[in-house]
Amino acid sequence: MDSSETNVTAATEPAPRTGSVWIGTSNRGFGKLAASELQRLFEKAKTQSLSPGDVYRFEVDAGREEALRRIKEKPPIFLRHMQPVHRTVPIEDAEATLAAIRAVVAELDAPLRGKKVAVQARKAEAPQTPKAELAPIDVKRAVDEALVATHGAIPVVQDMEYVISVYLARETAYVGWSKPEDNLSTWSGGAVHFRKEDGDISRAKFKLMEAEQSFGIDFGAFHSALDIGAAPGGWSSFLLEKGLRVTAIDPADMHPSLHREHGFTYLRKNAADVTFPEDSFDLLVCDMSWDPLRMAELVKRLLPAVSRDGLVLTTVKLMHGKAFATLREVERVMEPEAKLVATKQLFHNREELTCRWRRTT
Ligand SMILES: C[S@@+](CC[C@H](N)C(=O)[O-])C[C@H]1O[C@@H](n2cnc3c(N)ncnc32)[C@H](O)[C@@H]1O
Repeated sequence: MDSSETNVTAATEPAPRTGSVWIGTSNRGFGKLAASELQRLFEKAKTQSLSPGDVYRFEVDAGREEALRRIKEKPPIFLRHMQPVHRTVPIEDAEATLAAIRAVVAELDAPLRGKKVAVQARKAEAPQTPKAELAPIDVKRAVDEALVATHGAIPVVQDMEYVISVYLARETAYVGWSKPEDNLSTWSGGAVHFRKEDGDISRAKFKLMEAEQSFGIDFGAFHSALDIGAAPGGWSSFLLEKGLRVTAIDPADMHPSLHREHGFTYLRKNAADVTFPEDSFDLLVCDMSWDPLRMAELVKRLLPAVSRDGLVLTTVKLMHGKAFATLREVERVMEPEAKLVATKQLFHNREELTCRWRRTT
């Protein structure tokens, strides 16, 4: 059905003349913290929840480019993914809505000709699920049709130059186009999915794989890692695969397969009871899932074992919902020996953050 045959109308976002509208996504239960970070970045930032997921519409008093510049300059910890909203489509029955989305995409003023374009369509969870029975895959098909027929674009699922994002909330479909690097994550909604492989020791490994992507860390460039709180060994096995020598510390058992690995040393100890000569490692990772201040004290005590330009990566458990205060206290403990370079709540983080530190003194 051609969109002209439908009575569904599409609206242009944003309403504010100098502002911009976005769909933001955070880990479940952390949308409010993302909203408070946005309020610190912009004089005016309004958020409206669209899904318990945590997906929300946010509107700021800065145009798209300026909003993006500010967000990239000081990336919010809890904003996992963002997509611009160029157009909205009211959700009526499924056929009519798909036709309207197709029409809206056809009209987008975007430089897509001959470009590789991915469609990332998502929908709100119950109870805010779309009024009509609309599946993201049907939306993707409709958008792909418009991309090929009207824009002469090349639909792809990865290695894209542009993304068309469609978020289906209860009453409204939010449509926007962007470069993938401007969405904070190239994954749809920032939901990072790695394939579990035979021999994977723990899902914790995905956290380190995601940190590699999110922070742009080339783990293969390091030589010798200290892994604190290492059991059962997902992080250790990942670092060994990257060719590093790994010293793992944990009172708990490591996976038996690790003991056969070349370059692997295991100390069945509490990390408070070990010492190493200076500059023994160029990478320290810690995933202790423990009281954050005690974790920080423990890591700080071991920092002299890390070379001056070495990298330190820790998870920080969030206690009692005081995320920002906890992070500040952890920073206070670690300074001045280590400087916090980046913090992110990754998709694979539960009630925790991942922090990248630089060894300083
Ligand atoms: C979340 S698990 C780590 C998972 C690991 N990163 C992996 O990839 O398999 C946390 C570990 O920290 C260890 N841990 C807690 N306190 C510790 C301490 N003081 N010293 C060493 N390890 C500790 C626990 O025994 C537990 O095995």
